Formats: sequence, structure tokens, C-alpha cells
Amino acid sequence: MTAISTSSLRARLALAALLSLSSAFCLWKSRSLRRRRRLFSVPLENPNKAAPIQPAKIFFASQTGTSESLARRLATRLSAHGLAVELVNPLHYEPEDLPKETFVLIVASTWEEGKPPPNAAFLARWLAESAADFRVGSLILSRCQFSVFGVGSTAFGATFNSAARDLARWMKALGAEEIVPLCEGDVDGGEVEKEFHLWSEGILSLMKGEKTIGDGARIDMPDDLEEENEYDEEDEDEEAAEDSDVVDLEDIAGKAPSKKSNGQLANGTGGIKEMVTPIIRKNLEKQGYKIIGSHSGVKLCRWTKSQLRGRGGCYKHSFYGIESHRCMEATPSLACANKCVFCWRHHTNPVGKSWQWKMDDPLVIVNAAIDQHTKMIKQMKGVPGVKEEHLLEGLSPRHCALSLVGEPIMYPEINTLIDELHLRRISTFLVTNAQFPEKIQMLKPITQLYVSVDAATKESLKAVDRPLFGDFWERFVDSLKSLRDKQQRTVYRLTLVKGWNAEEVDAYANLLCLGEPDFIEIKGVTYCGSTATSKLTMENVPWHSDVKAFSETLAIKSNGQYEVACEHVHSCCVLLANVSKFKINGQWHTWIDYERFQELVASEKSFRAEDYMAATPSWAVYGAEEGGFDPKQSRYRKERRHGAAALKN
Ligand SMILES: *[C@@H]1O[C@H](CO)[C@@H](O)[C@H](O)[C@H]1NC(C)=O
Ligand SMILES: *[C@@H]1O[C@H](CO)[C@@H](O)[C@H](O)[C@H]1NC(C)=O
Repeated sequence: MTAISTSSLRARLALAALLSLSSAFCLWKSRSLRRRRRLFSVPLENPNKAAPIQPAKIFFASQTGTSESLARRLATRLSAHGLAVELVNPLHYEPEDLPKETFVLIVASTWEEGKPPPNAAFLARWLAESAADFRVGSLILSRCQFSVFGVGSTAFGATFNSAARDLARWMKALGAEEIVPLCEGDVDGGEVEKEFHLWSEGILSLMKGEKTIGDGARIDMPDDLEEENEYDEEDEDEEAAEDSDVVDLEDIAGKAPSKKSNGQLANGTGGIKEMVTPIIRKNLEKQGYKIIGSHSGVKLCRWTKSQLRGRGGCYKHSFYGIESHRCMEATPSLACANKCVFCWRHHTNPVGKSWQWKMDDPLVIVNAAIDQHTKMIKQMKGVPGVKEEHLLEGLSPRHCALSLVGEPIMYPEINTLIDELHLRRISTFLVTNAQFPEKIQMLKPITQLYVSVDAATKESLKAVDRPLFGDFWERFVDSLKSLRDKQQRTVYRLTLVKGWNAEEVDAYANLLCLGEPDFIEIKGVTYCGSTATSKLTMENVPWHSDVKAFSETLAIKSNGQYEVACEHVHSCCVLLANVSKFKINGQWHTWIDYERFQELVASEKSFRAEDYMAATPSWAVYGAEEGGFDPKQSRYRKERRHGAAALKN
């Protein structure tokens, strides 16, 4: 299977190169992004900040010095024309600063196995993971224009310039605009100097604002064809369908194996299938998942890395005091019972109405999850900003978010799995999709139980979640009622999608009395690009101000039972809390005393949310100047940035 797809990929690449289709596609893609940007001229991440113009950054991914000297030459040449440039060794660069860049040029060699040289390894990994991570969104680099020059050797065959190609692909996937197509230099061909010169000319004339792109840019796409592509949605679908990663697997993992599956999915002769098939595995691994056994996974969250480096935690840090660098994200079931429109995986995940797969032991899953998680933490050693003490803390996770892809509650041994986590004094946050009320009823007390409330009416729930069950609405309502009956620390999680559910505030208010959740988390959907199975566009993405307005209205409609307690501006996320439970003498208590929680669990007596709540710090409270950003983290951040600046030349 792998061999077939690799060789067909290779064949396709060769064909694409031959016909210059790839650069034509890049151009079309960058055109359509530019178009989007015209509609939404302010970038998503920081809607309130004006964009200062940065000097052009010239990165070199260099091992033997060839790329570095080419990059140096380009820097000299551009500065000679009075252009502001900065030569950057990516080893000393903070990738989290990329969203601030407006112009990036990369000269990249390809090292062993098609990878970039070590000095660019971290930058490359950051780009690869961000590009595959739904939480990052596809517009994080939308302010940035870029171009890549590859220093490759045809002697390496299929991996010729693959580091440069990857870098360009990831930059584009994150919304950056490729202003001069990737130029693949060939050191064996002896033409690299000439190729570099032409590429540099193209860059120079663009930066000087000249209209003609120059000889370096080999774009010969007729204008009318571009325009046609820009408006043709079908094309986008075809493109997606051709991509080997976008395979319709519904019929494979949920139902009978189809012809498409080549019989590889049914394991044995009529035996029990494995949930994670080779295609799904490949797909998930590409997104940074470590697959455990045949149906579980862990992934190192972007925020775990961020807090390891003292650069801020996720909204769960602001709302509940979770230490992101000690948080493990895992799921014991990568399968799901919905096919949500905003699912970032565009339905390459298995779906099913009940557990029908081979099952792994909960103890094995927990041990393997911790093992894989700590391995990923160890890989952060030596990354800029990571301190020894953070790393040590990270190596013993205190929290587990059972909230990755899939439906954790489907796993028949979920209670034993939770016990195993609590035995290790690891807190448990679990998110379920409101399709299994009986599973909610039988679930053991956990630290915080979430139900995704993706829509507020039957019609919109059907449209948004595309559930597999015919009686999905009854299941949904019963799930909410089960939440109320649990008498635990509970949360409704709302994902606002403009035009789909963000207009239903009255209907949402009506759902509050069904589940009487302690908290309501409201988050704007993240845009992850459009594919054949997800038709979201930028118009569907709410701003932080939209999320705030929705939250405030919902609070009013609850007749004062809920108030807006916290916000995390960076993730576009707001928290409502039950006032009479969590506001004591005017002070919010949305945080959790995790030690107390573990004591309560160990006591085996029944307990309630009020028994282990803790005071919310002032910086996390709604309307605080810090916007939910821990000042301890920001102080550290400032120190770091001075250090980083000094290292750049
Ligand atoms: C089938 O299951 C067995 C036992 O779990 C496993 O070792 C084997 O790799 C599986 N085969 C396929 C084709 O998935
Ligand atoms: C809020 O908490 C109070 C006190 O526990 C409880 O009586 C009330 O029902 C809760 N409100 C909602 C809407 O859940």
C-alpha cells in the first residue's frame, strides 16, 4: 500500500513538474488567498492590532554553508538597493514569531532523507505541525509573503529539494502568500548560481515594487485560466479528491469494507476489524499523532510546547489553572459518531454508532500514552526557551485532556482508564459529543465533564454535526439531561460557526435548563481550509468580539444565573459560569484544586464541584487587561525576546 502510493505520488510529482502545474496551482492558490485577504483585510489572530512592517527575513537552512552563503549574497544585494533585510539562522529564531513577519525568504538545502539541515529542524517541525493542526488555523501567516529557493542535488532522486518543497507547502498551508514560485536549484547540474541569480532578480524587482516579476519567476499561466480557477469550486473538490490523504472512509471503518479498501481493512477472515486502518494511521501520524495500539492516540499539544517554553498556556490554564506544559492530550477512541462540518480532519476518521473494533487493554493504553507523551516532551530538550525545570515538570504529566479527535466515551473500558489516570494523580477532562446518554450515566466522576453542544435546534444540529443516529436529537437532549443528573463539574462546549449556529442564542438559552452545566465555554470555529467535505469559508469564522457579544447575550438570557467569568483572547474563547456556585463574595472560583480533587477521588465518597474549586487569578477574569494571558509567562517572554534578538545577525 505504502509502496504503491509513494510511487504514484512520485509519478504525479514528476508529471506536475513536467507540466509546471505545481507552480500554476501555487499561483492560483495564492491568488485565492489574496482574494480572501481582500475580503478580510485584518488578520484573524490579532484583529485589534495594527500591522507594523517588519524587515524582510532571509532564512538559511544550511549544513555545509552553500545555502548560507547564497542567503548572505541575497541580503547584501537587497540591502544595496536600500531594502530592509535581516539574515536569520533559524536555529536562533522563535517560530512563534512567524505570524508577525510580513516578508520571508528561505534558502534551503535538503539534508539526509529529504529533511532540512539540523539548524532548521525545529522551524520545519513547527511549520509541519502547525500546518496539520486544526487549532492553529490556516490563516496564521496570512500577513506574510514569502518565497523559497531550494539547494538540492538530483543525485538524491525523489528527495531532490524536498526540504524546500515542504517548507513552501507548509508556509502556504498556513496562509502565507508565495510571491515568487519555489525555485529548485540543482548543485549537480552546475546551474545553481544562475538559478539563484534569476530567483533573486525576481525577488528584487518585486520588493522594489516593479510590476514585472523578472526572469526568475517562471510563471506561464494564462490570466483567464487563473480567473476561471478562482471561481470554480468544483476544481477545489477535485483537487481534494486527488489528494491521497483525503479518502472517504465512512464505508470502510463504520460499515462493510468496500472495494476502495482493497480488503486491507478487514483483519483476518471475518474477524474483528481494527479501528485505525493503515490509511487512517498514516493520515493521523502526519498530523503529529502517535497511535497507540489500534484505536488510541496521543498528541503533543501546541500549548504544551508553548508553556514548556514560557510562552503562555492554553485557555484551560486561564479558566481552570491547568498547567499546559504538564497536560497530556489523548483519546482512547479515534472513532466518532458524528461527521461535523467543522471537523478539521475532513472525515478521514473512522465513524460508527457503537464499538465494533478490536479492543486494547486500558492499562496498556495509559502506560503507552504516558510513555509516548514523555518521549515527545524529551524531544523538546534544547529547543530555544525550554528550561530544565519546565522539562522535568513536563515529564510527569498532571492532567489528561481526553479531548482529541474521536469520541472517548465510546471506549468500553473508559472507567478503568480513568481509574488508572487518577491512580497516577492525573486529572481528567473528558469531552463527549452528546450522542451516548447511557455512557454519560455510567461514567465515573472525573475532574471535568464536557458535552459538545454544537447547535441548539434539531435542524441545525443535523446540519452541523451530520450525526449517524436517526434519533440524534433525542440522544442529544438525553445527554444534556444526563449531565444535569451527574451532579458533577460539568461544561457545555459551544463552537460558534457564523451562518450555522451563531445566530441561535435564544435556542441555546433554552438548553441551559436541560443540563444545568456549571460552565459554558464558547469558542469561535477555526478556519482550516475548504475541502470536498468541509464547506466552511472565512465568513463562517467569528471574531473575538462576536464571541464576546454572543456570550454576554447568553448570560443575560439566563436571567442572571450565568455570568461571563473569564476570557482568553488568543484562542477566541470565553467562559460563562454559574454565579451562585462559583462567585463567592464577588470573587470567581473557576480554577480547580487538583490535589483536593485527587483526595476526594481516593476517599471514594461522593463529592461535588464546589468541593474542589479554587480562586481565579485576576489576570484571567473577564475584561482583565491581560486578556487571559498569565503575566508570569509574559514577563518571561520579554526576557527571551531580547536574548533571541541578540543572537540574530
Ligand atoms: C490483524 O490483527 C493482528 C492481531 O491484532 C495484527 O498483528 C495484524 O497486524 C493485523 N493485520 C492487519 C492486516 O491489520
Ligand atoms: C447554579 O447553582 C445553584 C447552586 O448550586 C443551583 O441551585 C442552580 O440550579 C444552578 N443553576 C443552573 C442554571 O444550573
